[in-house]
Amino acid sequence: MAESEQGYLRDVQYRFPDRLKARSILHTRYGRGDWFEWLAANIPLPTGGLIADVGCGAGSFWTNAPQSVPSDLKLRLFDISEGMVGAARTSIAAMQRWHDVEASVSDAVALPMASASVDTTIAVHMLYHLADPASGLKEMARVTREAGAVAVVLNPANTMIELSELARAPFGGERDPRSEPLSSEQGLALMQGEFTKVDVVRYDDELRVTDPVDLLGYLNSLPIADKPGVMEKLAIAVEEAFRRTEGGFTITKASELLIGHK
Ligand SMILES: C[S@@+](CC[C@H](N)C(=O)[O-])C[C@H]1O[C@@H](n2cnc3c(N)ncnc32)[C@H](O)[C@@H]1O
Repeated sequence: MAESEQGYLRDVQYRFPDRLKARSILHTRYGRGDWFEWLAANIPLPTGGLIADVGCGAGSFWTNAPQSVPSDLKLRLFDISEGMVGAARTSIAAMQRWHDVEASVSDAVALPMASASVDTTIAVHMLYHLADPASGLKEMARVTREAGAVAVVLNPANTMIELSELARAPFGGERDPRSEPLSSEQGLALMQGEFTKVDVVRYDDELRVTDPVDLLGYLNSLPIADKPGVMEKLAIAVEEAFRRTEGGFTITKASELLIGHK
């Protein structure tokens, strides 16, 4: 990834939580509704443990964590976006649930943590943003202690394919010229090179979107919408899709949690 691409992520796409929030609406309004419970049930979060959240975004895991998650965790949050780190800090403090929290602007490939100090390192929907995901995994493995875990969430190739096809409409159905994001299948292969054992847990869901505005909000948050004239064409594509599907646009999605053990 060129520096300009990382700059785009830091200064435009993830400058503030608004775009991420627009996308999460689709999942929370139309999805299974148990994402955070599922994550909490499958990620090792030992009581009193030191947890590193890499690419923490606005800290949504911690603001939505079910009561089963021990409140005495020591949270260390990292993100390259200052706006995200600020939002995470503010939202987590407002909850008054977590009492040992430090959030800082840091790159996933250079975490300000001592080697073998962390019980669980998590990276939810972020590894695909790294120019060199293998270096990111190496760094996460470095900070994690011997019996600890590195929990990475990625999406399988072709997740939300119906939405990707819709987003291609303004380009005459051609594929987006940017490379496909790192899939969970590719992430698993990388993790198997770094860890002695990797467990895989899959989350399947189906979103039956009934309000076209939610779909437009999602599309408007994507990098393609930054190009002039694209949103107008996407709006027409959404209208046609809703007419075709008689008011309910269905999107199939999945995520995989890959848990690496050293
Ligand atoms: C899709 S968001 C996911 C946020 C959060 N983990 C969640 O699940 O809500 C990806 C996040 O990774 C951050 N990010 C991208 N590249 C990064 C890097 N090199 N180091 C640290 N964070 C990065 C972005 O700023 C963004 O907040």
